[in-house]
Amino acid sequence: MANAEIGVIGGSGFYSFLEDVSEIQVDTPYGPPSDSLYLGELAGRSVAFLPRHGRSHTVPPHRINYRANLWALRSVGVRQVLGPCAVGGLRPEYGPGTLLVPDQLVDRTQSRVQTFFDGVPLPDGSVPNVVHTTFADPYCPVGRSVAVAAARGRDWEPVDGGTMVVVEGPRFSTRAESRWYASAGWSVIGMTGHPEAILARELGLCYTSMALVTDLDAGAETGEGVSHTEVLKVFGENVGRLREVLFDAVAALPATGTRDCLCTHALDGWDLGIELP
Ligand code: ADE
Repeated sequence: MANAEIGVIGGSGFYSFLEDVSEIQVDTPYGPPSDSLYLGELAGRSVAFLPRHGRSHTVPPHRINYRANLWALRSVGVRQVLGPCAVGGLRPEYGPGTLLVPDQLVDRTQSRVQTFFDGVPLPDGSVPNVVHTTFADPYCPVGRSVAVAAARGRDWEPVDGGTMVVVEGPRFSTRAESRWYASAGWSVIGMTGHPEAILARELGLCYTSMALVTDLDAGAETGEGVSHTEVLKVFGENVGRLREVLFDAVAALPATGTRDCLCTHALDGWDLGIELP
């Protein structure tokens, strides 16, 4: 099967940044991922791009098959994942166009499967054991510094750290919910950051979130509330520079064999019961 070392899970604005793209369909024990994987080269590195919501944006955040997405990426060789996503800002100073590289997350989702290790047999008959993964620091520290440096290199000063709260969606939050999240000290709000990060960690992958603020969330603004049209417009205005930052981040990520961050040790000592791809 074709091979890639770095995965990018993102919106559809990113296909065209890969050179010599080949499309492959990957099946997984958890069913199909959101779409085909698009494999190509970027900055001399082999990259697999996966459109998180499907190529025509038909998969809402709560119906994404996150397990299939991460499994599919790992099965083609991916060991480091960059996850650009759109978020709302929970503080007035994090307005549209802010890039935030979170170092923490809070899960406020309600219906999502968030583990591979649930005791349910895989189609090959193997049964995952119970595994309790350390997740105090949910993002790869190396990937985070690479992403921050890449943004700085493009004169886009990012917010280095902060907490992303992930809500179930697909609706946006009420003002009361939004004020509550802000009063807890959380920085940005999104719908897809969980369980993407934990499932990556459960597969021993490095995962870095790159959160583009597309709007001020309902509690931080005084207008009509967040609209999807606004989110798409601001994302479209910033997708060019986000691609440039991604390009530089991909180029600067460490070679797969040299990784020694906490992500690579996530499964140390655990008897998984299943073979990872
Ligand atoms: N994605 C983009 N903006 C958002 C918001 N305000 N809330 C949740 N997800 C978002």
